[in-house]
Amino acid sequence: MTTFLVTGATGNMGQSLIGFLLEKEANVKVIAAVRDVVKVKKTYGSLKNLDFRQFDFKDSTSFSDALAGVDTVFLLRPPQISKIDAYFKPLLKAISKSTVRQLLFLSVQGAEQSSMIPHHKIESLVKTYRIPYVFLRPSYFMQNLTTTLYKDIVTKRKIILPAGKAKFNWVDVSNIAEVAAHILLNFNTFKNKAYEITGPDNLSFEHAVAIINRYVKHPLVYKKVNPLSFFLIKKKEGMATGFILVMLVLHFLPRFQKAPRVSTFYSDLLGKAPTTLDAFVKREKSCFEKETL
Ligand SMILES: NC(=O)c1ccc[n+]([C@@H]2O[C@H](COP(=O)([O-])OP(=O)(O)OC[C@H]3O[C@@H](n4cnc5c(N)ncnc54)[C@H](OP(=O)(O)O)[C@@H]3O)[C@@H](O)[C@H]2O)c1
Repeated sequence: MTTFLVTGATGNMGQSLIGFLLEKEANVKVIAAVRDVVKVKKTYGSLKNLDFRQFDFKDSTSFSDALAGVDTVFLLRPPQISKIDAYFKPLLKAISKSTVRQLLFLSVQGAEQSSMIPHHKIESLVKTYRIPYVFLRPSYFMQNLTTTLYKDIVTKRKIILPAGKAKFNWVDVSNIAEVAAHILLNFNTFKNKAYEITGPDNLSFEHAVAIINRYVKHPLVYKKVNPLSFFLIKKKEGMATGFILVMLVLHFLPRFQKAPRVSTFYSDLLGKAPTTLDAFVKREKSCFEKETL
């Protein structure tokens, strides 16, 4: 039996991945590495082959118990954590000295091209510590519409961003998680390589909003703003400065970059088409119709 430790188990990717791992293979034990075991146990309920361990990226004393007896780690970088040397270096060192022999890191498309972004630094550390790895580099999550951008969608019927007419490649987290589960269960085939995973659509926010408006009674508006206005709007709303800056980089820089590469990794691997943005919006229609949080 292989033992998998999943970080970020309560987030977009972690929840979906745990579902695929438990569904695809009976001979696995999945451990959700979480900050608050009692709370998360209540949410997940009791599932066969799923266990919980206390784990905090910011508390290195939690690492050795969480990693005990683990074969494979699914690692992500929580969006709030940007101090890689402070938090990821000790964690990767602990992983390199543990029973772990396989690590899948959820990186980001283009991570190899910019030494500034945290994912690039994490990828380098994984190699430095000689941990057998796979780097999965996804494009822009469709689920941003139902998480980080959701409050404005519901309460203002707006998407407010400094993204201009830039095109984003929209990928469904469920597709990423399905591929991640496949890789984790067949690790040696993919070992020590990086793979981009994208959806089929390179679309601007204007286009994305037009798609959403096919399915809702009260239409949304895409409000293009400049970076300073975006900063001031979000600051006034109480968003943490660090997170506003992450949002700015993510949505402003693509205005000056080429359209994202479209990868066929998902369909090549699983023999089926990835989710289109239209299909995602149709699936999540009830979210987009809500007008109170
Ligand atoms: N959004 C995109 O378009 C996009 C595109 C490409 C790559 N990515 C990458 O995907 C990653 C985010 O994945 P996601 O969307 O699944 O994340 P998410 O939904 O924001 O979830 C973050 C997870 O990290 C956990 N966490 C936060 N701080 C922690 C700590 N100190 N110790 C332990 N756990 C902690 C959270 O647990 P709690 O429940 O305890 O808070 C939660 O489970 C990022 O690295 C991002 O750069 C995102």
